[in-house]
Amino acid sequence: MKTLSHLFDNNREWARQVTEANPDFFNELANQQAPSILWIGCSDSRVPANQIVDLPPGEVFVHRNIANVVVHSDLNCLSVLQYAVEVLKVKHVIVCGHYGCGGVRASMDGQDHGLIDNWLRHIADVRRFHRDELEGMDFEAEVDRMCELNVFEQVRNVCNTSIVRNSWAGGAELSIHGWIYDVKNGILKDLGHCFTSREEFDAAYPA
Ligand code: CO
Repeated sequence: MKTLSHLFDNNREWARQVTEANPDFFNELANQQAPSILWIGCSDSRVPANQIVDLPPGEVFVHRNIANVVVHSDLNCLSVLQYAVEVLKVKHVIVCGHYGCGGVRASMDGQDHGLIDNWLRHIADVRRFHRDELEGMDFEAEVDRMCELNVFEQVRNVCNTSIVRNSWAGGAELSIHGWIYDVKNGILKDLGHCFTSREEFDAAYPA
């Protein structure tokens, strides 16, 4: 039986190095977590939340799924959002997409991918909302633009949750950000799509 023993070796070496640098690190974290950031990102193995912003354990609360989608009825994502906002009281929710996202591409390629097509339908909807802008684009350029548009849409979905609305109504300091990561060079980009209040959000998206 293979037991992935090299991963346990890696783990012991990592824990040793962390403890060497800060002997109290694990003791302090064991008592509480107080992250100020909720990261909603893609499951893609090339986009590990903590690593690409170089933050240690304890700093980022994370939810990842195929193509960083926030669905209004997804209890998994909503539970993470509620816990992060209401209990951990994070100050920032970051929706981070990435260029070349396989989920976004799969939503556009017209192929049959089985069950996941039901999930990708949410992204196909985003494409439909922006049909005019995307009309006539080269396919690869359209995939990358769709990766950005998908971030905008998911930021909007986060802002429209009862969780964020109630938090803003209660006067909480909470910003929702839209970022995108480039797997080709490791660079994160702020898409300049940030909302810090209901008023700011409503001004951008009048009812
Ligand atoms: Co992806």
